[in-house]
Amino acid sequence: MRVQNFVVFEGGDGSGTTTQLNLLRNRFEADLHLPRLYATFEPTDGPIGRLIRGALKREITLHPGTLARLFVADRNEHLYAPSGVLDRTAQGELVISDRYVLSSLVYQGITCGKALPWELNASFPFPEALFFFNIDPETACQRIEQRTVKEIYEYLDFQAQVQERYKVLLPWYEGEGVKVVMIDADKSLEEVAEAVWRELKNLPIVKTS
Ligand code: TMP
Repeated sequence: MRVQNFVVFEGGDGSGTTTQLNLLRNRFEADLHLPRLYATFEPTDGPIGRLIRGALKREITLHPGTLARLFVADRNEHLYAPSGVLDRTAQGELVISDRYVLSSLVYQGITCGKALPWELNASFPFPEALFFFNIDPETACQRIEQRTVKEIYEYLDFQAQVQERYKVLLPWYEGEGVKVVMIDADKSLEEVAEAVWRELKNLPIVKTS
């Protein structure tokens, strides 16, 4: 199943998905002709998401299989809780999530082996579109270096594997009928924002607003 009006941003750490989603939020708030945008993210800021963030920042230690299951529990709440993704898309809002299922297939595919995240994520619906922020892992790691707290996946070897696995999985997503948009995330913030908008404004919900 595919969820109309549901868009996801994916990419390695440091690829700029969060920055770009913030810019879009401003654009949608400033233009009353555009549909209502619900800009959201995973891990969420709910109780399970906060637990995950603690593990990512090394405040608590969790087995990789536990973390894989927490990402999925957090996603379940994100989608199905009242006023979650499904409620909002059904009410005609545009929902853009910074990360979704593919993050689990990629990251937990590396830390737990491919089978577990596939099994755990099998029943989640597909989004209407996926924007992949394609960045050279070295450039991404230079950006990450400037952060004060480094998370558990933020090192070059891991990010190179992340990039590789996204590239393997994207054609499968496309084959499932998801509109996959490649964004050259090595470019400047403004150029990336322009590229994102060029594609986003063609989605039916934005085009007809
Ligand atoms: P963020 O940097 O986009 O806030 O995401 C936090 C980290 O969590 C990032 O390194 C990707 C990772 N992650 C997973 O490993 N699996 C998942 O399912 C999700 C949503 C994120």
